[in-house]
Amino acid sequence: MKKILTTLAAIALVLPMVAQPKLTKDNIDEVLAAMTLEEKATLVVGSGWGSMIAGITGGSQILVSGAAGTTQAIPRLGIPNTVLADGPAGLRINPTREGTTRTFYCTGFPVGTAIASSWDVELVENMTKAMGNEVLEYGVDVLLAPGMNIHRNPLCGRNFEYFSEDPVLSGKISAAYVKGVQSNGVGVSIKHFAGNNQETARDHNDAQISQRALREIYLKNFEIAVRDADPWTVMSSYNKINGKYTQQSYDLLTKALREDWGFKGIVMTDWGAKDGTVDAVKAGNDLMEPGMPFETQRIIEAVNNGTLDVKDLDRNVRRLLEFIVRTPRFNGYKYSDKPDLKAHAAAARAAATESMVLLKNEGDVLPLKDVKNIALFGATSVDFVAGGTGSGNVNKAYVVNMVQGLENAGFKLDESLKDYYKKYVDFARIDARDIPNGGSVGILLGEAKIAEAPVAKSFVESKVAANDAAIVIIGRNSGESEDRRVEDDFDLSAAERSLLTNVCNAFHLAGKKVIVVLNIGGVIETASWKALPDAILCAWQPGQEGGDAVADVLTGKVNPSGKLPMTFPVQFVDHKSSFNFPLGNEPTGKSDFSFIGDDTRNTVNHVDFTKYEEGIFVGYRWFETFGKEVSYPFGFGLSYTTFDYSKPTVTVAKDGTVTAKVIVTNTGKVAGKEAVGLYVSAPAGGLEKPAKELKAFAKTRLLAPGESQTLTFSVKAYDLASFNEQANRWETAAGTYTFGFGRNVRDIPVSFQAVIKNAATFAVSK
Ligand code: BGC
Repeated sequence: MKKILTTLAAIALVLPMVAQPKLTKDNIDEVLAAMTLEEKATLVVGSGWGSMIAGITGGSQILVSGAAGTTQAIPRLGIPNTVLADGPAGLRINPTREGTTRTFYCTGFPVGTAIASSWDVELVENMTKAMGNEVLEYGVDVLLAPGMNIHRNPLCGRNFEYFSEDPVLSGKISAAYVKGVQSNGVGVSIKHFAGNNQETARDHNDAQISQRALREIYLKNFEIAVRDADPWTVMSSYNKINGKYTQQSYDLLTKALREDWGFKGIVMTDWGAKDGTVDAVKAGNDLMEPGMPFETQRIIEAVNNGTLDVKDLDRNVRRLLEFIVRTPRFNGYKYSDKPDLKAHAAAARAAATESMVLLKNEGDVLPLKDVKNIALFGATSVDFVAGGTGSGNVNKAYVVNMVQGLENAGFKLDESLKDYYKKYVDFARIDARDIPNGGSVGILLGEAKIAEAPVAKSFVESKVAANDAAIVIIGRNSGESEDRRVEDDFDLSAAERSLLTNVCNAFHLAGKKVIVVLNIGGVIETASWKALPDAILCAWQPGQEGGDAVADVLTGKVNPSGKLPMTFPVQFVDHKSSFNFPLGNEPTGKSDFSFIGDDTRNTVNHVDFTKYEEGIFVGYRWFETFGKEVSYPFGFGLSYTTFDYSKPTVTVAKDGTVTAKVIVTNTGKVAGKEAVGLYVSAPAGGLEKPAKELKAFAKTRLLAPGESQTLTFSVKAYDLASFNEQANRWETAAGTYTFGFGRNVRDIPVSFQAVIKNAATFAVSK
């Protein structure tokens, strides 16, 4: 840093001789021409960790406390800093600041997996409109979100931030998210591009993925978001793909992203410098974040010694200038530091209710009827999880937990249970302080989830007489830099199992009902215990209004309409990817991982690659094609009403564009919404295909009993294509396709066959 400052001081001395235009929207060429090599190399490197240093000449002023980073200012050319801060479940900045009693809390919205479960692009766009307003009003230019890596395996510690195992659902939800945030005149950074499907060894893991799986699964969602929503920025991931760091891959950052998909914005690295800064510049990674002075030096030296063509640097600098002139900071926006948190809380609550998935409702036990007194079991009733940990954790002013939510809705909770769990959680938190890092691992992680409390059978039994029903809440938390475990995480712990069994036995004996609420960020095992309770509501990690949102659904104020964005397998090992997912779950940097069934690596005490052996058979593509049993299929979700599907039609235009329609009718007794997936089965011959693939989806408005709505889906010939690795192109086969209109991937009440007359091919950049 010192060296750069000296260099810049030297430049300053000769400044009168150098042209000094001030940046405007219309003089980017002129400003670029006026920049010295040092200035260019400075602009493409951020100002360091934690937005502490506000630019090379800006001293140590903090622009927005708690932001993740800034780009550097070059005042002589009128180039301001811009501010980048984390998401995705809301804006992440520090809630308090030195020298003021004012607070800067942000709204904790439901996590990515939750909002994807809404299958509702309008809802997501409305919610992120509110989120983007906080970005603008707190003086931030780019929200580092959405996280959109594919759920390759249930154990990925950051799956809660991500949307789905399916690229179309993930891509469309991401596009809606981007549009909502960017409608405020601020940017997003879609991340982590790409192949960042595990946290173990995330900084150097080599994701070994076939070209076909890469294009069809792991890049497809990014492609959809780029094509549909024009994100301002993309964040390259920490990992490698097929031996190359993504931030240094010209194929990825220039050929696929820009040449094939038409991306016009900037690419920034994920947070941390790597060797190969110059390769990153060449590949089209425009910005190094958070930025280290030695990266600037490397770039200067490379241009000076001829190993980096200044044209490559200029190309990136131009893109950065184009980005900067769009930002509120450049345009002098006077931010208020006072977003309407009340209105946004309402948006968070609405989104949370629409995202919950009703997994079971035997005898229509829900919505709750004739229930006043509730025995609420589970440490999570108090230790409620609004969202996961790490950089995805929003600093919100409060979290409405389950106790508060149910009481706000007018229920009477069993006092001694309430008291027991409150004390248990309080003590567990004190205990956690004796563990290094407060029981958390790594600087980014929050407090570890408190293990389920032991509850004696006799204590459970003593709660039956005075209560009308029982609710058991099961919680999970995870986050950045660590993957989840099978034991006591994917699988229930012994304490959870015994609690569930004891509560169900005791209450059922008295003819009383038991409802399980899952406060989870990702998939858990359900097959072995789902027969026990009467109802199961998957509430996900629903944000700061979570407790109220759960109550809205339990009481029937809102009819649940969420559907699973991933498969719930019977066992962890049923996922093909489980055989190539590192287990051991030590934080990044440790080396004692193991793998299921892969003895070549069981003995290797070092992880640096992951073979994506399942290829395109990720999630339901695997379970459907190979006829495997599941606990809940992709797309599963019940309602308090029922829907009938009728009159499916599919027409194919000359250019191969498919228009599919179906009429959905509410055949039950209460109003509700229904999400429908369009599942396509391709003709045999040509490339091997999954049995079914989601190609589009739509959701009805709130339909009154008896009311119908026609849903329309549009699919282009390109959307039906598979990637032929040998020919290096996309191919859509001619033939008869089946278009199924599904409640979920396994329940497809009506379908329609249509012929695509002409085969089509689509080239990619060579
Ligand atoms: C995370 C990113 C995040 C960045 C800045 C990284 O460690 O992987 O998701 O945006 O930090 O906080």
